[in-house]
Amino acid sequence: MNGLRSCFPAAILAMPCLLFAPALAQPTKLASTPPMGWNSWNHFNRNIDDATVRAQADAMVASGLRDAGYVYINIDDTWEGERDATGRIRSNSKFPDMKALADYVHGKGLKLGIYSSPGNKTCAKYEGSLDHEEQDAQTFADWGIDYLKYDLCGLRDAMKQAPSPEAAHAMMIDAYSKMHRALVKTGRPIVFSLCQYGNDAVWTWGASVGGNLWRTTGDISDRYSRMAEIGFSQAGLAKYAGTGHWNDPDMLEVGNGGMNLEEYRTHMSLWALLAAPLLAGNDLTKMTPETVSLLTNHDVIAIDQDPAGIQGDRVGAEGPTEVWARPLADGSKAVGLFNRHPQPMEIRADFRQIGFHGPVRVRDVWSGKDLGKMAAEYRTLVPGHGVVLLKVSEAAGSSSSESAPKRPTEQR
Ligand code: GLA
Repeated sequence: MNGLRSCFPAAILAMPCLLFAPALAQPTKLASTPPMGWNSWNHFNRNIDDATVRAQADAMVASGLRDAGYVYINIDDTWEGERDATGRIRSNSKFPDMKALADYVHGKGLKLGIYSSPGNKTCAKYEGSLDHEEQDAQTFADWGIDYLKYDLCGLRDAMKQAPSPEAAHAMMIDAYSKMHRALVKTGRPIVFSLCQYGNDAVWTWGASVGGNLWRTTGDISDRYSRMAEIGFSQAGLAKYAGTGHWNDPDMLEVGNGGMNLEEYRTHMSLWALLAAPLLAGNDLTKMTPETVSLLTNHDVIAIDQDPAGIQGDRVGAEGPTEVWARPLADGSKAVGLFNRHPQPMEIRADFRQIGFHGPVRVRDVWSGKDLGKMAAEYRTLVPGHGVVLLKVSEAAGSSSSESAPKRPTEQR
């Protein structure tokens, strides 16, 4: 916030300063890698309260998820109460003291996120931030909020009244920009998460309205078909993501019980290749060892959080099989061999197609096994709906691969 903080000692100084701040960016440190944490919606839906959130924070620490990198505890819709006489938003009776809750969460080395809408109502018909943007941003900052998911919902009715699609689009851009300015003005670093279901090619303008991440799709559900539909539809979006601004294919369903182990591995592997935010969406207080190990696999998280921040993309598809690759900071590549068919299928990774032109070393990420040195390709049987996730690097002594990781031409 350094540059911007010096812009705000007095409102009168703010305007010229802001004019020179490129795209009103929040500090680059914010979401420098895709945010990791937990969100209440996928599992608890509307059934959340202060005690539930505290229990999730406790479990985040006790299960080892915090130490694996999951830090945001995000309260989704239905926390909102009525405004007081001055228009200040209050939490409802499920959350008696939001500041105390934030203190509790912070005391565990975690951060607290919240949810609102640019419309007058949220998706669950609770109070939205329309015409109260500055006031709400300040209230969130006063409470100690570190992350805001801003969900279009309530604004859609107003957008329908707009005289043209262009005017409706302008309303939306305006609404997101307004909240971004309000967040910046508070001086508190608050991750800004846009949620408008991937409409209007949000990836082309999300960063320009200050988004640190933007949903690229409608809602996920705990079924393989929906997770796969969302995840595999992300091809081509890599060039829009980078440090501080990420494509968001929605929160995780791992551990909610609707998919089997292979399917949840596909979910984690694909999200890591996509440099997607990793927001667990399960009940952290009731995790099987299998769920904990899926969520905390060190090597998978390292791929997701790779410091080069280059999103992976599809490099080939053959019927129901797909090969995706992601360039990593150390010059290696994460490669996912995905089988979307319900029965096992053999999949071939062609290392030249992935950018290696000499011998490579290959490691199987989920099994942790070093598969040794290989020449040009690797063939393996991949379980139905499953994945084999590889880390491929140039073999020692070979200098025939692309050396530095290549970023797709960035579009902002
Ligand atoms: C929308 C969002 C979900 C969730 C709900 C809450 O559907 O896409 O992620 O926030 O609203 O009402």
